[in-house]
Amino acid sequence: MGKTTDKGPAILIHGGAWHIARRDRAAHTAGCREAALAGWERLEHGGSALDAVEAAVRVLEDNPRFDAGRGSYFNKEGRVQLDAIVMDGRALDFGAVASVERVRNPISLARLVLERCEHNFIVGPGAEAFAVARGMSLCDPADLLGTHDTGSWSPAVALGFGRVPVAISGGDTVGAVAMDVEGHLAVATSTGGTPDKWPGRVGDSPLVGCGAYADDQAGVAAATGSGESLMKIVTSKSAVDLMAAGRTAQQAADAIVAQLWQRVRGYGGVILIDPAGCVGLAHNTPNLAYAYVLADGTMAAGVEFSPNSTPGRAEGLAAVREDI
Ligand code: GLY
Repeated sequence: MGKTTDKGPAILIHGGAWHIARRDRAAHTAGCREAALAGWERLEHGGSALDAVEAAVRVLEDNPRFDAGRGSYFNKEGRVQLDAIVMDGRALDFGAVASVERVRNPISLARLVLERCEHNFIVGPGAEAFAVARGMSLCDPADLLGTHDTGSWSPAVALGFGRVPVAISGGDTVGAVAMDVEGHLAVATSTGGTPDKWPGRVGDSPLVGCGAYADDQAGVAAATGSGESLMKIVTSKSAVDLMAAGRTAQQAADAIVAQLWQRVRGYGGVILIDPAGCVGLAHNTPNLAYAYVLADGTMAAGVEFSPNSTPGRAEGLAAVREDI
């Protein structure tokens, strides 16, 4: 990565860092491409970075392939509980929600919190009540169930309240980072969290600085992977701080993923855009699905493989693949 955008517009999205089975890779790539193009359409018509990341993440939430919105993993009670955040790099403002069960597109509720709430972060039934108070309709929790076959993890298993294996072949949290034509930065992150999570468990994704951070003066970052580890190193803010100190997006991405392993033995990935408009991506999980569109029209989408270049990554690969 490290492509230069000539200072925007640009959008980079991911469909989650974990193992993605060979049979699922084309579908993950197609889903990421569709999401990046939805965001790009906003940007090329002069829309804001905030509009672009929300549009992109809505597409991923609606696609049951990904662990966000419809098709998210089930918790120990067989229920879907969703978390999301949007952050606007102009004034460091953000909106976040967690543990919502009746919201079809949590990213749009997070944006509603950003724009029409005196608070920044609301959870559970309170967040759902806020949605209704602002005119957003709630969905049936059943609307969030996926329909695709994901092997050992399936709605049928979860609806029977069966425990699901922790190692699954699928995506993880989704996220988008964008720079608009005016050079403003924004990020959106949405997730169903980890499979078989404890009810009420919240990971890094909706936590400002952990799952997402945007600062027009320094850069923008979105994280994916094991929230318990990503929180400990405040992954997204730490990555943005590296860019503020002069690292390019790709250098910061590589450094923060190395730190994730070295400091807390964590697995995950990040996507970044620096203030010069360069994009960066790194992960230490076996795979990461992604797509981007740059100012010069360059478009790419695919499933990244870990370069397996550090002992941490190698150990991670072995540990993860044993379970699959
Ligand atoms: N990174 C998503 C989570 O741990 O919830």
